[in-house]
Amino acid sequence: MTHDLLIKGARVVSASGTTHCEIGIKGGVIATLGHDLAGTEVIDATGLIALPGGIDNHVHISQPSGPGIVMADDFTSGTRAAACGGNTTVLPFCLPEDGQTLREAVAAYRAKAEGNCLTDVAFHLIVKETDPVTLGQDLPALIEAGYTSFKVFMTYQGLALSDRQILEVMSVAKTHGAMVMVHAENEDAIEFLRDRAERSGDTGPYHHATTRPVPVEREATHRAISLAEIAGVPLTIVHVSNGEATEEIMRARQRGLTVFAETCPQYITLTADDLDRDGFEGAKYVCSPPPRTRDEWDNIWRGIETGVFDLFSSDHCPFRFVDTAGKDAPGARQSFRNIPNGIPGVETRLPILFSEGVVKGRLSLDRFAALTATNHARLYGLYPRKGAIMVGADADIALWDPTLTKPIRQVDLHHGSDYTPWEGFEVTGWPVRTLLRGVTTMKDGAPVATPFGQHLSREAPDVLR
Ligand code: URP
Ligand code: ZN
Ligand code: ZN
Repeated sequence: MTHDLLIKGARVVSASGTTHCEIGIKGGVIATLGHDLAGTEVIDATGLIALPGGIDNHVHISQPSGPGIVMADDFTSGTRAAACGGNTTVLPFCLPEDGQTLREAVAAYRAKAEGNCLTDVAFHLIVKETDPVTLGQDLPALIEAGYTSFKVFMTYQGLALSDRQILEVMSVAKTHGAMVMVHAENEDAIEFLRDRAERSGDTGPYHHATTRPVPVEREATHRAISLAEIAGVPLTIVHVSNGEATEEIMRARQRGLTVFAETCPQYITLTADDLDRDGFEGAKYVCSPPPRTRDEWDNIWRGIETGVFDLFSSDHCPFRFVDTAGKDAPGARQSFRNIPNGIPGVETRLPILFSEGVVKGRLSLDRFAALTATNHARLYGLYPRKGAIMVGADADIALWDPTLTKPIRQVDLHHGSDYTPWEGFEVTGWPVRTLLRGVTTMKDGAPVATPFGQHLSREAPDVLR
């Protein structure tokens, strides 16, 4: 067979292990893994590592963010940044505007993404209403149409659901076959601590962290797991930040429950002290759960190394810093309460984990691929089309130079935000070329294609099939 494209010379992290072979691509699909293949076009990848294109299953793009607040990325800039960071698929969350139904919100997001994406895209839903139409009609119809995962919040006014509501949502997931993702922080406890901090004059960005301490997350993680046990569903705890929440997940698994867990770069590289930087700089690091301590980095690493964590995602939720529609929102300098939550990270997620994990000897290449692509595809109904370098899969591949060392710098990034929380952070190992279905989307750090990303309809998560 003559392939359209051959990738030669790379060390290939394939579904069946890491080996030196050629990758033959035809019609956008991996047709052959072998030697002495024939191809019309050849990429010489000598010295590089071929990894599955990253799947980032936790990103927020063009999401409604409150009156006057605008997310820094639309689908053009968000997926451009993703591609430049070695990703080929992203899964943003679809949050209905006030008064919009879930089905209307999905249609609106699809329209915003259409024709603008440099990665493939699939959507998770956010369930913030539990009225009969949402639970009885919209959710079942959307699950049937391939929107097989949704997030519920235990925090944020206007989004947080009560325990009863979460059980109702989980019950729909059980009946119709979907994965529930939970943001586990106790809203009542946060409100109590927040009011107390404000009364004491503790209003700077640092107090975003002190009013969301570890027990707030640990308690909610335990409760979310208990609710899932009562409803009889598997669940995913997203963006876990600390050791005590990780222990809740381990204990649940020991009891035989099916609990998946996700963590993010901010929980192995940033601390609450970053929120205490001079002036208003700390606002750049305000996200929930907040970054913790160096000791918690070790706890999270233990969870990554021992397999507690299935997913390493970015929780990319970008706002501009010098912008009253972003971090400098009205009232934000008076109280941390008014600082939009979230940090940009879709372009830096993979290099940070590669550098901190693979290069520093904590992760094998196989485990890196699982944490950044394969498990995401399996858990969210995209496998085997996505998530692994294997015959029959889409030719979604990132070529990595494991020796390239340079710091993360805002000037080199492609997101819509005007800063990166990792400015100056030294990284060894960068993706130098990204291919989506066999077409190069990034070369040497720059985007090179016009957007051709597709919307992906999904199957049920592997664990439910
Ligand atoms: O601060 C964060 N993480 N913002 C994004 C929304 C969320 O909770 O995932
Ligand atoms: Zn969240
Ligand atoms: Zn998020």
